This record gives sequence, C-alpha cells and structure tokens, in this order.
Amino acid sequence: MKITKTQHPKQKPDFSKLGFGKYFTDHMLVMDYENGAWKEPEIVPYAPFEMDPSTTVLHYGQGIFEGLKAYKNAEGKITLFRPRDNLIRMNNSARRLCMPELDVDSMLQAMKELVLLEQDWIPTEPGTALYLRPTMVGTAAELGVHPSSKYRFYIILSPVGAYYATGLKPTRILIEEHFVRAPLGGTGEAKCMGNYAASLLAGNVAKEKGYEQVLWLDAKEHKYVEEVGAMNMFFVIDGVVKTPALVGSILPGITRNSVLQILRKEGMPCEETRVSVDEIVKAYEEGRLTEAFGSGTAAVISPVGVLGYQGKDLVINGNEMGPITSYLYDKLTGIQYGREKDEYGWIVALN
Ligand code: COI
Repeated sequence: MKITKTQHPKQKPDFSKLGFGKYFTDHMLVMDYENGAWKEPEIVPYAPFEMDPSTTVLHYGQGIFEGLKAYKNAEGKITLFRPRDNLIRMNNSARRLCMPELDVDSMLQAMKELVLLEQDWIPTEPGTALYLRPTMVGTAAELGVHPSSKYRFYIILSPVGAYYATGLKPTRILIEEHFVRAPLGGTGEAKCMGNYAASLLAGNVAKEKGYEQVLWLDAKEHKYVEEVGAMNMFFVIDGVVKTPALVGSILPGITRNSVLQILRKEGMPCEETRVSVDEIVKAYEEGRLTEAFGSGTAAVISPVGVLGYQGKDLVINGNEMGPITSYLYDKLTGIQYGREKDEYGWIVALN
C-alpha cells in the first residue's frame, strides 16, 4: 500500500484529558471507487477533502460509518477489538444505502497498517483507546436522486477517553415519547449518517431537560424500547438481563453482542426480547428493576442511573453502578485491554 508520510507531525494532546473525538492523528486511509471498482487504498497525511458543492453525500446523505477501537497494553502490545465484525456490518450498511461493498480481508490489512503507523497516538491511560472511524460517502457531483456513481472510503483515527463527560458515573436518559428514530423497513439497522442527524433534535430537547440522551421507543406503537442512539440498552429485571431484540429498526451493536456472549458463557440469565416501557415502569415500581446500562464501542458499558418518563425520574439502584454492570464492564475492558484471557477470539493482535 502506498504510504505518504506527513512533513508536519502534530503535537499530541494531553492523553489524560481527551474527551471523545476531538483530536485526530497525523494520517488517514483513503480509497476511491469509480467505474464500478475500488482503487488501491493509500495512507496520506490527515487533511480536509475538497468536494464539489453538488456532491451526493452533501445533499442526500448517502454516507455510512463504523466505530472500533485499538488498544496498547503496558508491554506495548497493540490490538484491535472485533475489527472484522465492523467491516462486515459496514458492508451490511452499504447494501442498505446502495453503496459498494468492501473486501473485508484487504481492508482489515489496510486498517492494521494504518494503526501500526499511528501507534504513538494510542493512549494508554485507563479508559482511553484509539478510536477508528471507517466512513464511506457518495462523491459523484450530480443532483439526481439515485445512488452515487463514485464513492470515497476513508478511515480517520482519534485518541479518545470516555464518551460521556460524566465518565463512568451513571447517565440520565429520557424515554422519548414524541420523536422516533427508525420505523421498521427504515434504516435503523444500518449505521448511516441520517440516523444520527435525525436524532439531534430529540437529543437537544432532552439536554434542555437535564438528560444526556434519549431512549427511543418503537416507531409504530411507542411502546417497546429500542436503543439510545450511541448505545444499545440492557435492563436487569428479576435478575434477568434483558435487551431489545434486533427486530430490524435497532443497530446490531458489536458490544451488545459481546455482552450477550459473556452472559451466556458465564451462565447468567439473559434474554433478547421485546421490552415494553410499561414492563420497565412496573418492574421499577415493584423494586424488580435493579440495573440498567448501555453498551457501545464509544460508550463501552455505561450505567444508566435515571430514566425519565412522563415527567418522573426512575432512579435505578440509587443512581449507582450495579453489580452486573460492573462485572460486565470489568470483564469486557479486561479482555479489550489484555488483562483477561480472550476466550472468544475477539482480539486481533497487530504486533
Ligand atoms: C460508536 O460507539 O462507535 C458509535 O458509533 C456511537 C456514536 C459515537 C455515534
């Protein structure tokens, strides 16, 4: 792969104060699609793209992305967490948005080369990682509403800390009763840009009311909980860990799947099912809702301390992280940071 190194390496930020997605490394991977085929990928210095104002993605949002993390342990061993699953999901999103698929093996190889080149940007402070953002956009300069004839795939890298400013403190989530994220048959399962744009207004309203994000309900009946947008959701009811089933409108989270695999392997009761908001409220009132948490690449495992619904706050586990959430956080991050043996084949070593 052709690599053009930067002549102007950036000054690295303070790795103990990263926040999420604010800093970007020196290089990125870029690959263009034209005349029905992908060209060779290249690593180039990180820089803005020039785009014609008529470019497809700028008008019709034909764009998809992924998020995954690279870790460096105390011995300098560099790893990726389930990168192949992200590339496979990106191809699923590509099909939904009429975009070309990637060759998973060659993209995995290219991704590894990029991370190794940028290895000094992988932070090692607790809770930090190098976040990879593979992205694909329609780049043809034409205004007709049809799939673009040209595409750009790129991967940018960002050293990150916790996604929520509150870190591991439980978050406050508002159950959204008016707006919806994705109807069945829509793009809810795909990781496409429009899903996130469409979520912003509800997020702003929730923030004004003192919540961090919203928990979406299904678009048809406004009855069943779906996901939070930046994370899938789990509820511990009667000692059973319940998560909304992937009915077609919910993002199939890779961290969600990892949580389920851990629970099943450890013999802890769990269910992928339809979880109604009524069931949650009833279980809360009867003291049977003992924990709630979200999962995601950026969010990792994030405890939810408060669920706002119909003007009331359901305070879960005294607004403290509960034992199952804490166990899963330790287990998952233990595997990701190499403190625990990976019995699942999730870790891909780069050196
Ligand atoms: C991720 O967890 O990687 C996400 O894509 C969620 C959000 C930051 C958009």
